[in-house]
Amino acid sequence: MTPVVGRGLGKLILCGEHAVVYGHAALAFAVDRATEVTVEPRAGRRALTDSDVSDPRLEAALDAVLPAEGLTVRIRSDLPVGRGMGSSAALAAALVRARAALDGARPTFEALFERALPVERVFHGNPSGLDVAVALRGGFLLYRRGPPLQAVPVEVSVPWQVVVLDTGRAGNTADLVAGVASRRPAIDAALERIGALVLDVRAHLPDPVAVGALLDENQSLLEQIGVSDPDIERLVALARAAGAHGAKLSGAGGGGIVIALVTDPEPVLRAARAAGVTAFTAAIGGAP
Ligand code: PMV
Repeated sequence: MTPVVGRGLGKLILCGEHAVVYGHAALAFAVDRATEVTVEPRAGRRALTDSDVSDPRLEAALDAVLPAEGLTVRIRSDLPVGRGMGSSAALAAALVRARAALDGARPTFEALFERALPVERVFHGNPSGLDVAVALRGGFLLYRRGPPLQAVPVEVSVPWQVVVLDTGRAGNTADLVAGVASRRPAIDAALERIGALVLDVRAHLPDPVAVGALLDENQSLLEQIGVSDPDIERLVALARAAGAHGAKLSGAGGGGIVIALVTDPEPVLRAARAAGVTAFTAAIGGAP
């Protein structure tokens, strides 16, 4: 047998994180970064011979999908870990795709999603499934957790880009999600407003000024629900001062990354460089 490869895409959440856990809509898109799992036969126990991902939970993730015997596994990834770019979901998607290729099967998106979600749970307690949906499907998605699951492709070309600015610290998604849960019901109105705002963004997607203003409002709601921090807010201010139409944290927060909506990325990239901040553009909508 020749080696088989499974691929899962990284993602960025445009808006709706945290509220999506409670059934509200979120918008997210795949980026041009991915994780690839290659498996090929070998005698004896399964062996992970080469991996760009190092995590104590990795073997448990492999156990959830692959046979314990008879395989060599290699993992390649150019996704930063713990930065809100969906590295664990990309791994989950790559693993279930590799398993399907091994079995010579062509499962539906829904079947792959059902298999990948428990792998994502190895890393995050109660994921909404948003990251897994984007890692598997690619493109730009409007997502609502099920049942019934909605992962609706958003077919729109937009005249803007996203610059990613890195706080340099990983946020702990499970802790941040638990923190939000502990502050309910006092923050339920803010979670509702985030959900409504996502639908406003969807309606105005080609308009960078309207979407930018809504992302700014989303950031202040994320501050209200307690998942932002001073490092995030410094990068948000830096991006806005450099001409971004809007900026907010993306992912769980508590560190991690900020996204800035721009029509010209150069001024934000320059300002980030001058401040010693790692920043890069992310192309929207990688294909699986
Ligand atoms: O930290 P990330 O990129 O996995 O994003 C988490 C997004 C949350 O909405 C906070 C949690 C979830 O499961 O959707």
